[in-house]
Amino acid sequence: MKDIVAVILAAGKGTRMHSDLPKALHRIAGRPIIDYITELISSLGIKRTIAVIGYKADLLKKHFAGRVEYVIQKQLLGTGDAITQTKPLLQDFKGHILILYGDTPLLTKDTLKKLINHHINTKASCTLLTANLKNPTGYGRILRNKNYHIVKIIEDTEASIYEKVIEEVNAGVACFKAPDLFKVLEEIKPHNKKKEYFLTDAVALLSRRNHKIESVIAQETQEILGINSRDDLAQAQEIVRNRTLEQLMLKGVTIIDPKTTFIDYTAEIGQDTRIHPFTIIEEKVKIGKGCEIGPFCHVRPEVIISDKVSIGNFVEITRSKIGKNVNIRHHSYIGDAIIGNDVNIGAGTTIANYDGKAKYETVIEDSAFIGCGTILVAPVKVGAGAVTGAGCVIPRRHNVPPGKVVVGVPAKILKK
Ligand code: UD1
Ligand code: CA
Repeated sequence: MKDIVAVILAAGKGTRMHSDLPKALHRIAGRPIIDYITELISSLGIKRTIAVIGYKADLLKKHFAGRVEYVIQKQLLGTGDAITQTKPLLQDFKGHILILYGDTPLLTKDTLKKLINHHINTKASCTLLTANLKNPTGYGRILRNKNYHIVKIIEDTEASIYEKVIEEVNAGVACFKAPDLFKVLEEIKPHNKKKEYFLTDAVALLSRRNHKIESVIAQETQEILGINSRDDLAQAQEIVRNRTLEQLMLKGVTIIDPKTTFIDYTAEIGQDTRIHPFTIIEEKVKIGKGCEIGPFCHVRPEVIISDKVSIGNFVEITRSKIGKNVNIRHHSYIGDAIIGNDVNIGAGTTIANYDGKAKYETVIEDSAFIGCGTILVAPVKVGAGAVTGAGCVIPRRHNVPPGKVVVGVPAKILKK
């Protein structure tokens, strides 16, 4: 992909979001919108990316941390003006420009590959990604002549009632031969009161010069969703969530009720593990094979769970490592803990890992049995095979020796 440069238009304010944060930095399933786009670009093997930034540019610059080139659009005069800002960087470039909008994160690699291949194979001047939407409101409509050639894109705000019924829309993704694009950009005239220059006008200008305009249709309409409002953001969230769940199911994870299951895309879950309803699994969690997780449980970031573990009703786990064959079934809180193999954690166990200033570690060794309602005040260690009686409180640093039984408040070793 040597002769393709990707340009991301992300200077807009995102007026309809009503936010202090630039739209591209809003998150979907925990990941900033812009990251979906930059990751897609690198997955395609495109080596050079230029982002056009403007509104709160400093925040985006900081976010890119040198990973992406950028140019600043000083006045937000529309998508046509935005792409014009890249001209100083690309004026001698004879290859192709893949334009992506910084608010369209759900595109798939397959669709973009198809678009690029079609553009190269047909030697088109411009290739647009389009989609047929039942409700095309808000999107630019694709106008074709009687030979089915694209002649123009008309924006929603400017479309007549006859044009508004057109269901084929501009997804906002396009490949252009760079020299052709920069030539016609100069001819684009500003629209409306805001004097905006529409990139989409380049299409009619190229068509009038008899340049070849091609299109590729997105297989799944949901992938072209442009995030303009918080409502769109919630829709995108739902799509990403379902994609993550589908991927896990394809790899052999059972998800009993996808509607009430929230799993971060970075989580790894082993085969034959069953995720019960109302479960939240956050980023970088690793879960082994043959586990039962949930219902109603919250596995927070960076938890590592081995094989054949059962974690259930109203359990919260954070920053912990759980060994094989462990049961933590009811109403427990496990934080900053290292738990060995074959451990049983009784109902209502609490690890008091935080003293108001810092967090401390708890270690529970192999085959220990923690009685119901035990409170372990960290830092503390329970030795292998030890037993804690129901309702006991183990004060900090009062480690329970291996094989011993402790009871009471504060816990004391039970003598035989
Ligand atoms: C745009 C398209 C429309 C298409 C739709 C797909 C134009 C004129 N219209 O409309 O045909 O159907 O996307 O989602 O292109 N931006 C800048 N600088 C600006 C203005 C916008 O960088 O001055 C960036 C925004 O940050 C955004 C992208 O361009 O990421 C698109 O802008 P937006 O205002 O959302 O365009 P739409 O009205 O959605
Ligand atoms: Ca948009």
